[in-house]
Amino acid sequence: MRLLIVGAGAREHALAWKCRQSPLCGELLVAPGNAGTAALARNIPVKPDDSTALLELAKAERIDLAVLGPESAVDAGVGDVLRAEGVPVFGPDRAAGRIESSKAFAKALMREAGIPTAAHRAFSDAEPARAFAAERGGQVAVKADGLALGKGVFVCGSIAESDAAIEALLEQNALGAAGSTVVIEERLFGQELSVFGFSDGRRVLPLEPARDYKRALAGDRGLNTGGMGAYSPPAGVNDSLVEQVHKAVLQPAIDALRERGSQYRGVLYAGLMLTASGAQVIEFNARFGDPEAQVLLPRLESDLVEVMLACARGDLSSAPALRWSPDAAVGVVIASGGYPDSYLTGHEISGLDELPGEVLVFHAGTRLAGQKLITAGGRVLTVVGRGRTVRDARDRAAAAAARVRFQEAFYRHDIAAEAT
Ligand code: AMP
Ligand code: GLY
Repeated sequence: MRLLIVGAGAREHALAWKCRQSPLCGELLVAPGNAGTAALARNIPVKPDDSTALLELAKAERIDLAVLGPESAVDAGVGDVLRAEGVPVFGPDRAAGRIESSKAFAKALMREAGIPTAAHRAFSDAEPARAFAAERGGQVAVKADGLALGKGVFVCGSIAESDAAIEALLEQNALGAAGSTVVIEERLFGQELSVFGFSDGRRVLPLEPARDYKRALAGDRGLNTGGMGAYSPPAGVNDSLVEQVHKAVLQPAIDALRERGSQYRGVLYAGLMLTASGAQVIEFNARFGDPEAQVLLPRLESDLVEVMLACARGDLSSAPALRWSPDAAVGVVIASGGYPDSYLTGHEISGLDELPGEVLVFHAGTRLAGQKLITAGGRVLTVVGRGRTVRDARDRAAAAAARVRFQEAFYRHDIAAEAT
């Protein structure tokens, strides 16, 4: 089969790496990919949101399965355009993708489907927004309605903080149109958990859970990022919790989308807070998590291409339950100094050839300049250690992260520390 993976991050490198292990995988293309995917696949310089160019590519290359990595591809309607021309796509259409691209849509869907989530209201005017936050003592999360690369959420602990967030989004237009409507919800307390389900639009096949670390700095300090590390299986999470999330969150969301006329064919990501009164949904994403994919795919023993194809064709009914390695995986993201704010690129990366063979390295912001590997983005690489226990996996990931060098590199030293 001829596969096309859309995207440029470490998630897409991990997808390409896993697809390569499938006997079904023949030609493998990544658009646009990075220096890591270039070693496994043919990189094609097409942007993930360029649906016209991706359709041309899929036709010219007679693609049998297209896999959408990032939300930008989903939101650009790449799934709609390719499917309309008969290309099987793993990734939802644009309308179903609103479960991620519009927080107001996601909240309304959750309310209708009875999915547990924080109480909220949507606002486009600052005055009533401030009053709503103040009634809750400022203990709220203020969220830009639209896509904001993980930078659109302000978790507040006081009225001064909620006022500042509302002012930035609604009065100063800090995020432009993405923040012209805000969703304000009650602040939840607890540990976070990422749970995923493969879906053909009807059935849901749950994956193993993972825990992601969103803040830039150790101890959950600093700004929100796309994700600075992840591990699986997470401490304190048992099968019955995943089963409960499957029944109370993933399946009802897929059902509610179907009732609205959308067949969700892809992977649905529920970001949860494990509160004292049970698991509550913080957000949905219409794609794999990054860096969660980098720790889940190495643990997956089933054939990923087979299951993605079944979802894309709209028929998971004969798919067996997924098989998983009992081993743990810990992924540490190595980022450019300054990320998620501004950072420099073009620094030479060294140390990758000194890593032990069992450590996996998934590239994100990397590029080859002649023979040299250089930095080309905020999140540069994810190094993944595997082991019988989380402690073993974490030790391997930490040793590997310490050997990778580039100017102003930084990473979190506390990924998975809670489990050891
Ligand atoms: P989101 O983009 O909605 O996932 O939010 C990004 C991050 O903000 C989440 O991963 C949480 O750490 C935090 N967050 C979002 N909503 C809430 C909430 N209602 N209460 C507490 N923290 C939240
Ligand atoms: N790891 C968070 C995300 O992919 O949105």
